[in-house]
Amino acid sequence: MPPFPTTLLLLLPTLLATTTSSSAAAAPPPPPQPKPPCRFAPLHTQSSILANPQTLTNALLHWEARFAQPGIGYNAANGLTYDGTLLDPLTGLAAPSGAGRHNFSAASKEALHVMVLARAVAGSADAAQFVAPDAPPGEAGKVAEELLRAKLESYLKFNATFPGFGGFLPWFNNTFEAVEPTGDWVGRVPGLDNGELLWAVYGAVEALQRRGEEELAGGWQGWLDYAKGNAARVFYRGGLGGVCAVATLDQGLAPDAEGQRYECEGTGLLDDPYEGELMTWWLYFFGGLEEKEKEALWTRKREKLVSVEYEENGVGPITVQKGFWFSSHEQWKILEMPYFDVPIVKRIFTNAERVRTCNSKALGIPGMYASVNNVTDSSGEIIGYISNAGVPSISFQPEQELDVITPYSVFPTVLVEGKRGRAVGLAWWWNMVLGKKMQNPYGSTESERVDGTAVSSFVSWDSKVTTVAALLGGVSDLVKRKMMKDGIYREFIKVTKREHERVFTRLQGEDVALCLPEARVPDTGLEDYSACA
Ligand SMILES: *[C@@H]1O[C@H](CO)[C@@H](O)[C@H](O)[C@H]1NC(C)=O
Ligand SMILES: *[C@@H]1O[C@H](CO)[C@@H](O)[C@H](O)[C@H]1NC(C)=O
Ligand SMILES: *[C@@H]1O[C@H](CO)[C@@H](O)[C@H](O)[C@H]1NC(C)=O
Ligand SMILES: *[C@@H]1O[C@H](CO)[C@@H](O)[C@H](O)[C@H]1NC(C)=O
Repeated sequence: MPPFPTTLLLLLPTLLATTTSSSAAAAPPPPPQPKPPCRFAPLHTQSSILANPQTLTNALLHWEARFAQPGIGYNAANGLTYDGTLLDPLTGLAAPSGAGRHNFSAASKEALHVMVLARAVAGSADAAQFVAPDAPPGEAGKVAEELLRAKLESYLKFNATFPGFGGFLPWFNNTFEAVEPTGDWVGRVPGLDNGELLWAVYGAVEALQRRGEEELAGGWQGWLDYAKGNAARVFYRGGLGGVCAVATLDQGLAPDAEGQRYECEGTGLLDDPYEGELMTWWLYFFGGLEEKEKEALWTRKREKLVSVEYEENGVGPITVQKGFWFSSHEQWKILEMPYFDVPIVKRIFTNAERVRTCNSKALGIPGMYASVNNVTDSSGEIIGYISNAGVPSISFQPEQELDVITPYSVFPTVLVEGKRGRAVGLAWWWNMVLGKKMQNPYGSTESERVDGTAVSSFVSWDSKVTTVAALLGGVSDLVKRKMMKDGIYREFIKVTKREHERVFTRLQGEDVALCLPEARVPDTGLEDYSACA
């Protein structure tokens, strides 16, 4: 006999859960509404968004959903993501042949897909708008489940074909139903992207279990358990407390086969206090490491967790965590784990968004910065990838390229707790997509030049679904519930608190309000896409 009645044990997670609107399973489906036009941004104003963020949210989800479709955002044959797709620079349409498609992807894009699917499984009406816009009300959970089933099958098949990856995913070629590592990832696997995927799946397992989908939940749990068993073997390699940024391996040999060798590639270690930390947590909890090694995971990272004051352009001082570039991408981990349950982390995070929004306002920039694809050239090709975009004065890498802004830079602002964060984040998103060509038949466009002379005629998971996942509240509440069941939640809080409180004592600038955009992207004569005019 268990010490408690089984029904109580089953109820416990629900009782412990913090209820958020995005996860309210019982919310009735919204009444049918007239469909917003593709070019809906000009129909809104900053004050209409601030007064009623949900109207813009609905329109955003309705159109971003056109990206997460077979042949555009994912491969119908296997349920796996495509990185993104080039658009015709005049019409804004993707080539039906797939000619401009990035027929490759990575665990990070999978993480975004899994997060929104988990939210749909958990019953979110907003997620349903994104995941299954054409399904009858109430069917989105089923649609999401089918995609999760296809994905799991594909991951297992990949593992069977390339056992050396230990269940983890490299960048993969998704041209055919059976995927393989892309040419530049043969025998190599990245830690950061896989950390993002693992916790997204962890949240999805919780959502599936709550829905009573035991079999599918069990299948995914099996994949997670396999990744637990291999995490240290593959990634815990750089000496005491070291985690490989990229591990090298023989992809044809099973992890325990004779001759298999896992090594860190070069000297690059995953020791950042940003999104790479998701892999650190996986190793910490599930890597089977000794106590001394577990502690070393955190001491190895300490040098990069730094407190810094932003004070320029008449704003500040505001205390923030020093960024690598201070790109919004660096805040990804907040989508996935319950960091906000540690008050000091929530306060530092909120300060970061005070800085991000007020820095752009003070400099007269019509948007905010994050690592993103550069604009496309006259032949329709992406010019390059701009990693080094953020806020230079409060980053380790102050050499930056600040000529391009991207709608997804708002996702951390959207996550700021309370209604204000979402409303201000959406106001910035709207301000950017007001720019010519910044809306297309698949929602928002990748990026645009601050001077309004060019955009990136491209759409991708990174530049869209980070914002969508943030609007859905991420999966940190699902992850939290499962962490409690697994008995690791308290430890997460304890370590997170300890590491931050040793660096951050007094925070300045907590009275500063989030800033709203004032500048607009100049109209230099670009024409909106004809398929979305
Ligand atoms: C992507 O794959 C499809 C086949 O599914 C092919 O038609 C298309 O040309 C490929 N795109 C690129 C850019 O290689
Ligand atoms: C995928 O594999 C096919 C067949 O080898 C190759 O032609 C294509 O260029 C590859 N695509 C990518 C994105 O790696
Ligand atoms: C992955 O492949 C290995 C080697 O074939 C196998 O032993 C293992 O069970 C597979 N993992 C999963 C989760 O199926
Ligand atoms: C981005 O494109 C601009 C031209 O629009 C170019 O000057 C700049 O060097 C490019 N940067 C990268 C990283 O591609």
